[in-house]
Amino acid sequence: MKKVRKAVIPAAGLGTRFLPATKALPKEMLPIVNKPTIQYIVEEAVKAGIEDIIIVTGKGKRAIEDHFDIAYELEQNLIQKKKFDLLEKVREPSKIDIHYIRQKSPKGLGHAVWCARKFIGDEPFAVLLGDDIVQAEKPCIQQMAEQYEKTGHSVIGIKEVPYSETYRYGIIDPESQEGRLFHVKKFVEKPESNPPSNMAIIGRYILTPEIFDFLEKKEIGAGGEIQLTDAIQKLNELQGVDAYQFEGKRFDVGQVLGFVLTNIEMALQNEDLRDDVLEGIEKILHENKLSLK
Ligand code: UTP
Repeated sequence: MKKVRKAVIPAAGLGTRFLPATKALPKEMLPIVNKPTIQYIVEEAVKAGIEDIIIVTGKGKRAIEDHFDIAYELEQNLIQKKKFDLLEKVREPSKIDIHYIRQKSPKGLGHAVWCARKFIGDEPFAVLLGDDIVQAEKPCIQQMAEQYEKTGHSVIGIKEVPYSETYRYGIIDPESQEGRLFHVKKFVEKPESNPPSNMAIIGRYILTPEIFDFLEKKEIGAGGEIQLTDAIQKLNELQGVDAYQFEGKRFDVGQVLGFVLTNIEMALQNEDLRDDVLEGIEKILHENKLSLK
């Protein structure tokens, strides 16, 4: 069985849910506390032992490349001021070797993944979306790669969501279950009614290279976009695709409410900030005559 060595991070979407913030700033650069969301994703891949990362970028996404590059003037400035702790924080992202490819127009997630086909070649690969941050003892994508290495089947990361939110996700129609692993009858993208379950596809995938045969067809799906889920369903018919209910806490940072709540929660997890944030929240509640029910 080939090892999962490469990862694709699609980051070429328009980020319309965050407008106007994302008019000139990539959604993937919005910070959770003091780190851009995409850095959490890259760090997960590196921690999981992924050797090569490719980020799919698009128009207006230069800030992502700059973030993972050396910031020479800034580093010199911090050295002169002897701010060595900050210097280390600035240098950290530039230590990771990242490749880039441009998606010339945002035709959908499936199309973004297809753009990386030449980089991937004929081996299994990971896809990580910046919309979901997962905190886990063993990185989420590593848990899934280990499942792939047992069976040779593609593995899709899933989490339970409330039924009222299933219309926002790709949803699985499960056939059978062995512990955290599900064999899947069907993958359905954003069901408008009668979802087959409330097990939703979260932004982590291990895919076999045969996925490109289906993405190549560039079929248009839900929302007028080339959907990855549709190609996964075709791949499932060809060679079986499993879904894996990974261990860990998932933060939904792809929409405004989840983003705000994640910032609060992660700030509260930070020992240096916790007490001041709590005090700040109490003050805000008091000043606005609000109380926690
Ligand atoms: P989303 O649908 O969550 O991102 O796609 P979006 O389109 O940027 O956001 P909204 O819906 O308009 O607010 C999931 C991931 O896929 C990437 C996005 O950058 C995001 O990380 N994506 C999406 C692409 O790279 N290309 C696309 O054509 C679409």
